[in-house]
Parts: sequence; C-alpha cells; structure tokens
Amino acid sequence: MAFFQAQDISISFGGVQALNRVNFTVNQGEIFSIIGPNGAGKTTIFNCINRFYDLTGGVFLLEGKSISHAKPHDIADLGIARTFQNIELFKNMTVLDNLILGRHRKRRSNIFTEMLFIKPVRLQEIRSREKAEEIIDFLDLEAHRDQLVVNLPYGVQKTVELGRALAMEPTLLLLDEPTSGLNMEESEDLAFWLSDMKEELGITVIMVEHNMRFVKQTTDRVLAIDFGQAIVEGETNEVLTNPDVMRAYLGEENVCNA
Ligand SMILES: Nc1ncnc2c1ncn2[C@@H]1O[C@H](COP(=O)(O)OP(=O)(O)OP(=O)(O)O)[C@@H](O)[C@H]1O
Ligand SMILES: [Mg+2]
Repeated sequence: MAFFQAQDISISFGGVQALNRVNFTVNQGEIFSIIGPNGAGKTTIFNCINRFYDLTGGVFLLEGKSISHAKPHDIADLGIARTFQNIELFKNMTVLDNLILGRHRKRRSNIFTEMLFIKPVRLQEIRSREKAEEIIDFLDLEAHRDQLVVNLPYGVQKTVELGRALAMEPTLLLLDEPTSGLNMEESEDLAFWLSDMKEELGITVIMVEHNMRFVKQTTDRVLAIDFGQAIVEGETNEVLTNPDVMRAYLGEENVCNA
C-alpha cells in the first residue's frame, strides 16, 4: 500500500482552478519533490493536506485512509508536520522555547492537570525538553539555543523552523521551499540533514522546491505541475529532463534554443 496518495485532487478559488485532478503517490521513507513554475499550485497542495483549505474534489490517503475529513488540528496528530514558504515561528521567543512549543500537539493534558503539574504532565515536560535538546544537537543549533529567533540570520531561522516541525516527531514532513534564502553552505547542510532524516529517522518527506540542483541531489522521485495540472511524475532525472517540464519552466522558445 502507498504511504501517501493524492487522488484526483481539485480546488478552485473563485475563477482560478488552482488544482485540477492531480494524482501522485509517495512511498514510505522517500524524499518526494513537487516542482513547477510560480503559481503552479504547489503550496496549495500543502494547504489542502493541512486542511487550511477544503478540496472541491478528490482525496488524500495516508496509509490507505482518507484524511480529507480530519480537522486541521488533527493533522499533526496523524504525524504530518510542515514548514512554510514564509517562516512561521514565535520570533520573540528563544530557539529552545520554539522547539518545545513545537511539541504542544503531542502533549496530553488540560488546564487542570497542567495546574496541578501531576506526574504525567511532568513527564511530558521532561520529554519535550529532551526532544528539543536532541533536535538542537541534530541540527547543530547549540550556539543559538538561548537566542531570540528575531535576532538570528535568515538561514538559521529556517533551520529552527525545520526543528520545530521535527519536534512533532512526524512520520510525514512537508517542506515548502526549504532552500529559498539559503546560501550554498546552508543548502549543503540541509541536504545532509534530509539524508539523515530519511536514513536514521525514517521520515517521509514531501518538498516543494525551485532549486533543481538541490532536487537532483536529494530527491528520489518528483511530481511536476503547471497551471494546477500534473505534467509528469517519476524518477528525478527522468522528470527533470522531460521536455514538457523544461517547456513549463523555460517557455517554448527557450527549449527550442537550448
Ligand atoms: N487563498 C487563495 N485565494 C485565491 N487564490 C489563491 C489562494 N491560494 C492560492 N491561490 C491561487 O492559486 C494558484 C496557485 O498558488 P500557489 O500558492 O499554490 O502556487 P505555488 O506553486 O506555490 O507558487 P510559488 O512557486 O510562487 O510559491 C495561484 O494562481 C494563486 O494565486
Ligand atoms: Mg508556493
């Protein structure tokens, strides 16, 4: 059974058909990229998985079960975490606190148990701190752990956002343009972490990415879309060299002259 599947997904905003019967399949433990020109519908796919928007047609299946009726806050409980095209963090809190807060969906407590600080709540608190420290170690954030996010360089903020998503201990991680704004060295670090996340943590990743060099370096399989429609899905090299994909990116004229 496929780990994650989009079957005939569609959505429109007013007159704009942002996604039109798109299909794709992601296998467990793979790094899967969604590519396509600006406005193709890539982020909209994530927003629909997250239940920020309702699909007007089709369904997402996680391990064979539909998640299309899950409440937005249940998506994290299903093991799906996400980073955003524009970083979304608590900027006036420290790196450590952002990572601890990233785990709030994993905590099983209510106002009364929190007030009494009873044993299970204490244990959850300890586990959250341990997990945050593991992530600091994994992503090399030690030098920044007690700094306010607002004071950090952009690349480090992006790493913290990745850490916040990892704090959820996801089985499926959605990354929206993870290399945008990163320099070469930061992109190399990210490629390294992605490979560790896959090999050591067994996390399945769906990534929206414009940097084709990075896609080539990190990705197992790719879906290319344009104007809300799938162009092709397949092995990375096969998709990146597909003439229809090149045409979507470069325009007919440039492909002919290439
Ligand atoms: N909330 C919304 N209301 C109206 N139109 C929207 C909304 N969200 C997305 N769209 C439209 O849907 C289309 C797809 O947008 P989307 O953000 O998914 O593109 P994208 O592939 O992520 O592009 P980029 O590479 O620039 O991030 C665009 O035409 C966009 O204007
Ligand atoms: Mg986008």
